[in-house]
Amino acid sequence: MSKILVTGGLGFIGSHTVVELQNEGYDVVIIDNLSNSSRDVLQGIIGITGKEPVFEELDLRDKQGVQNFFKTHSDINGVIHFAASKAVGESVGNPLLYYENNINTLIYVLQELDKLKDANFIFSSSCTVYGQADELPITENAPVKPAESPYGNTKQIGEEIIKDSCKVIPNLNAIALRYFNPIGAHESALIGELPIGVPLNLVPFITQTAAGLREQLSVFGDDYPTSDGTCVRDYIHVVDLAKAHVIALKRLLEAKNKSNFEVFNLGTGTGSSVLEAIKSFEYVSGEKLNYKIAPRREGDVVAAYADTEKANQELGWTSELTLDDAMRSAWKWEQKIRNK
Ligand code: UD1
Repeated sequence: MSKILVTGGLGFIGSHTVVELQNEGYDVVIIDNLSNSSRDVLQGIIGITGKEPVFEELDLRDKQGVQNFFKTHSDINGVIHFAASKAVGESVGNPLLYYENNINTLIYVLQELDKLKDANFIFSSSCTVYGQADELPITENAPVKPAESPYGNTKQIGEEIIKDSCKVIPNLNAIALRYFNPIGAHESALIGELPIGVPLNLVPFITQTAAGLREQLSVFGDDYPTSDGTCVRDYIHVVDLAKAHVIALKRLLEAKNKSNFEVFNLGTGTGSSVLEAIKSFEYVSGEKLNYKIAPRREGDVVAAYADTEKANQELGWTSELTLDDAMRSAWKWEQKIRNK
């Protein structure tokens, strides 16, 4: 069976993807530096799949370490590269950390791929590359807008670096997956999102407020030109997202890709407002959420949701789980970690 390297495999999306890979019979090797994750996640993965992935604690900024890793694991058939920093605000305050973490590490991994027989590469990109798109839903052909933050810039530059590498590394085939807003947790509540400190993203803030860790959720702005005045996003269940990675990988392993660098949006195609997300949470949890309307947050786009046609038709992937499913699983996970 194919052996797949998952960098950042103990993180939020990474761990869910490891589960789906192992469920499909792949042998998985995880690299993670535990900077925003925990070794305990391995127990969750084993609990769900009954199988222990190989785990190497390694910081990908350690170039020599990366070279040594690929010498030992020269039989890898594919790489899913999640390892990166992802806090927008932090990236504004510490851009060089973001360029080092997200760009240097990408380069070090790509530099080793010409030594592999099968250099199949999946990259975590983001809908942030579109900025505020002129047309909704957003297709993959929508122009990439100047990045609003160093974090967003690392996703744009990352895609460019991979595209250029595909022109010169003969056996390299890559897919960049542009995620919309990943939320939720595995239905077993054995793995989920583990934000460090005060969450910046909506759903962990909602569940932590309901769990009593936060006083009140601030809804950032209710005067946007949307149906109820709050921002609209495409919230995609992390398990659906994880499955898309396995499908994308298979596409490369079976050489079904149309070019050696492809891009796909991963979203549900449905936009939900912040107030709709809160309603969904309240419905599935039976909890009343304490929230207030607050000023707009700087840098927020008004609305973003995916045109899913290309992912549906070309990749053969469609999201299956709903916003309610995602909220239910996020709430189950929050309750589980609070009762630990
Ligand atoms: C953010 C990043 C995006 C990144 C993604 C990673 C920004 C501007 N964008 O997306 O680049 O890829 O996270 O997960 O930071 N909201 C509230 N109150 C809160 C938190 C959020 O009202 O306490 C609202 C926001 O205004 C937004 C929506 O909820 O309308 C979703 O916010 P969030 O979960 O932070 O995701 P994005 O900002 O869409």
